[in-house]
Amino acid sequence: MMMRIESTNLSNRRIPVCVRTMIAVVLFLSVAVGRVGAWGWEGHIIVARIAEQHLTDKAKAGITQLLGPDLKISDTSVASWPDNIRRDRPETGPWHYVDIPFEANSYDPTRDCQTGQCVVAQIEHFAAVLTDTNATTVSRAEALRFVVHFVGDMHQPLHSTERNHDRGGNLVKITFLSESQAGNLHSVWDSILLRQYLKGEDVMQYADQLNSRITPQQMKDWAGGSVAEWAWESHQQAVAHTYAGVPIQSTPVNLSPQYVAGNREVVETQLMRAGIRLSILLNKAFQ
Ligand code: ADE
Ligand code: ZN
Ligand code: ZN
Repeated sequence: MMMRIESTNLSNRRIPVCVRTMIAVVLFLSVAVGRVGAWGWEGHIIVARIAEQHLTDKAKAGITQLLGPDLKISDTSVASWPDNIRRDRPETGPWHYVDIPFEANSYDPTRDCQTGQCVVAQIEHFAAVLTDTNATTVSRAEALRFVVHFVGDMHQPLHSTERNHDRGGNLVKITFLSESQAGNLHSVWDSILLRQYLKGEDVMQYADQLNSRITPQQMKDWAGGSVAEWAWESHQQAVAHTYAGVPIQSTPVNLSPQYVAGNREVVETQLMRAGIRLSILLNKAFQ
């Protein structure tokens, strides 16, 4: 879509100036939004929808008290809210990810999360605010939105990894399936792969189907661990799968149909893990 607009000759005299300006603005916004996004809105909704199926009555009541009766955590205005305010509050930008180096042997907060400006520390911080019944309703409601969103973000493997200072794959140019679809590796993992798997299916139905696939053993396995361990696991997914077959080079890398099909399980498992873990954090916060 973008490529088709890009290949339009913008200096064509027959296109009025105002239309050319509009095209330029749309292009700028689509590039800018693409760069700041996390899981696309679909991913965040799926994670929250899975979590909703595992909430205690107390957690459900606590959430309703904070959001009001008309909003759910799986509404995009809740689950994607931190992406929407990111531009107005630039200090929140680094909270969406943690750049654990590709070659690291472990997560090192001194190296990877200086002064707490990363997704691991921010999930811990906002989970504490949410738990604190002495905190104001306004700050707890905001903490809820951040927790819902950031637990999703950190399970996107490129939100927990960087290789060769590539800003979580944002600087890795790719062509996707056909040569005409250009982009970067980060956006592939934020939204493009998932949109391939969804193939226009209803997002809520897709989430419910993922939820129904979660086994009791997986529930047990995923329930344990710290936020830091979840980030390390996400990083390991990036090393084993996301970057596999993606060489370090300046010319665009073509992602094959095998890459797309082969990573379906990785994407879906990360979404399921995030949903279960989000429900656990929320159930604890409203105990
Ligand atoms: N900017 C720098 N590193 C990033 C990452 N891992 N994910 C998203 N944005 C980033
Ligand atoms: Zn985000
Ligand atoms: Zn992202």
